[in-house]
Amino acid sequence: MSLAMRLQGPAPLRWVTRGWVTRAALALFACGVLAGCNPPGRPGPEPEVIRPEALVDYPTLYKGNCAGCHGARGVNGASIPLANPVLLGIMGHDALRDTIAKGVPGSLMPPFGKSNGGTLTDQQVEILAKGVLAEWGTGQPAGGEHPAYRPAQPGDVAHGQQAYTAACARCHGANGEGDAKFKTGSIADPTYVALVSDQFLRNLILGGRPDENMPDYRSDMSRPLTDQEITDIVAWLAAKRVSDPGQPYRNPATHE
Ligand code: HEC
Ligand code: HEC
Repeated sequence: MSLAMRLQGPAPLRWVTRGWVTRAALALFACGVLAGCNPPGRPGPEPEVIRPEALVDYPTLYKGNCAGCHGARGVNGASIPLANPVLLGIMGHDALRDTIAKGVPGSLMPPFGKSNGGTLTDQQVEILAKGVLAEWGTGQPAGGEHPAYRPAQPGDVAHGQQAYTAACARCHGANGEGDAKFKTGSIADPTYVALVSDQFLRNLILGGRPDENMPDYRSDMSRPLTDQEITDIVAWLAAKRVSDPGQPYRNPATHE
């Protein structure tokens, strides 16, 4: 290809460019003649892109704010599945709304409410809470006696180990190291425990993982787990947390 040809560019491209210029000129001319047409750059009476705070459509709000971490269908996301009627029934509307507004401090779950530094109005947070409950909950709070969403008091580590052995060891190994037969990874690994909050662990025990055949708090024992047992199992797992997760090396300053 000669230098001159390269500078000129291929003929079809020149055509496209020229066609565009002609069309743009015609459009501008038409705008000048016909009423009711906004020239480029001048806003019309209604904003063409909906203002973020005017967005009140649940699917769009969920897709834009939650699907990335919790999955488009509430499963297979990077974090806890929301498509879990047992968990949502126990959590209930108010706790769900507060979690969305305030996030989970110390975790990747950000606050969404404007008053907490997020981008969503109170109305949008409410739409999300109602929408998640309507889509994946039963729409009703969990009836009858059930463990509370949040623990009432601190747990007991030794009792937690006993309850773990009875309810969880079958699938997660005697010490939480994982079990190849059930395809479970380690849940006692200090780095894993450091990445999740106590409430996250509690949520998992309350709601199980229906997507992975992990039972909810009603368990595959002969009876459901009690509120205290759940609190204790969380304490046992949380005791494995270390302050410097992912640090296989000794601190060069202290040699510890
Ligand atoms: C950047 C990722 C991310 C986004 C975006 C996100 N979440 Fe989360 N979410 C998380 C993580 C991580 C957790 C677990 C936090 C923990 O360790 O307790 C979580 C936990 C939750 C929980 C359980 C509450 C708890 O105390 O653990 C609910 C409910 C929830 N998210 C709802 C939502 C909703 C609804 C949205 C959209 C408005 C959303 N999340 C957006 C990452 C995210
Ligand atoms: C019938 C088998 C079974 C039982 C019983 C069971 N689990 Fe699981 N659990 C699973 C499977 C399968 C997974 C998903 C694979 C994984 O994450 O390693 C899982 C995942 C988990 C996770 C990690 C979830 C995540 O997404 O980070 C935790 C924590 C956990 N289980 C705790 C418990 C505790 C505590 C108990 C007892 C109260 C328990 N499990 C009982 C099968 C079981």
